Amino acid sequence: MMDWTTSHFRYLARQLSRHALLYTEMVTTGALIHGDTERFLRHEPAEYPLALQLGGSDAGELAHCAKLAEQFGFDEVNLNVGCPSDRVQNNMIGACLMGHPDKVAEGVRAMIEATSLPVTVKHRIGIDGRESWDDLCEFIEKVAAAGCRTFIVHARIAILEGLSPKENRDVPPLKYNWVYALKQKYPELEIIINGGIKTFDECHEHLRHTDGVMLGREAYNNPWLLASVDSTFFGSPESPLTRHDALRAMYPFIQS
Ligand SMILES: Cc1cc2nc3c(=O)[nH]c(=O)nc-3n(C[C@H](O)[C@H](O)[C@H](O)COP(=O)(O)O)c2cc1C
Repeated sequence: MMDWTTSHFRYLARQLSRHALLYTEMVTTGALIHGDTERFLRHEPAEYPLALQLGGSDAGELAHCAKLAEQFGFDEVNLNVGCPSDRVQNNMIGACLMGHPDKVAEGVRAMIEATSLPVTVKHRIGIDGRESWDDLCEFIEKVAAAGCRTFIVHARIAILEGLSPKENRDVPPLKYNWVYALKQKYPELEIIINGGIKTFDECHEHLRHTDGVMLGREAYNNPWLLASVDSTFFGSPESPLTRHDALRAMYPFIQS
């Protein structure tokens, strides 16, 4: 999440859960190629497992950045097809790419050829003008044919004309059933559900229908939730960690 899942937050999150997969903020291919690459990719090994999220659509640039992800030690490289901001739309980045499944497939194929890391896609269930079930299936099938096995699905459409990015995280209704239906239709794919999920009870319910759950805002606003993730979902013994321990564990990071 832009400006939220910085290295500082991820380091804290990792003190609380050893197993939850963490994601960087979105970094655009342009920023990585023409900007200060080191600065954009800097992270602590203590943050692993960690996925780098890319924003972009040029296959050559995506391939180059997927290679960088591997060189810098990330565990996964993820393509953003969900961000609705105007700024990125103008550069063919984010949710507008839901309208260009062939382009996404081409980018994903190039990334897969360039790296041995898992290449995953985070997307919406649609965008205004392309919000039918068939549109969504066409997107999934084309991107899966390019080799993507894991789809992280924010269970609402993005409305590119008229809503702000913040409104696009709350206003379009959540349709969890659509994500469940994707898993039923494509059982061979890993389908991770995202959007509006706050409690472990909700997570358990979603896990009856999907392969995984991604929490965004709740993990950030209520990070102590992460302290029970390993024992609840990964079979680890109950952690004796206290909030005080977690704070103490941040000292070396803060000092450095
Ligand atoms: C401040 C903020 C920044 C975000 N930045 C990104 C981003 O860089 N990439 C992305 O895929 N999603 C981004 N999102 C969307 C979240 O990843 C997530 O899909 C959305 O908030 C819905 O899930 P939630 O209800 O669990 O938060 C952002 C959300 C927020 C609140």
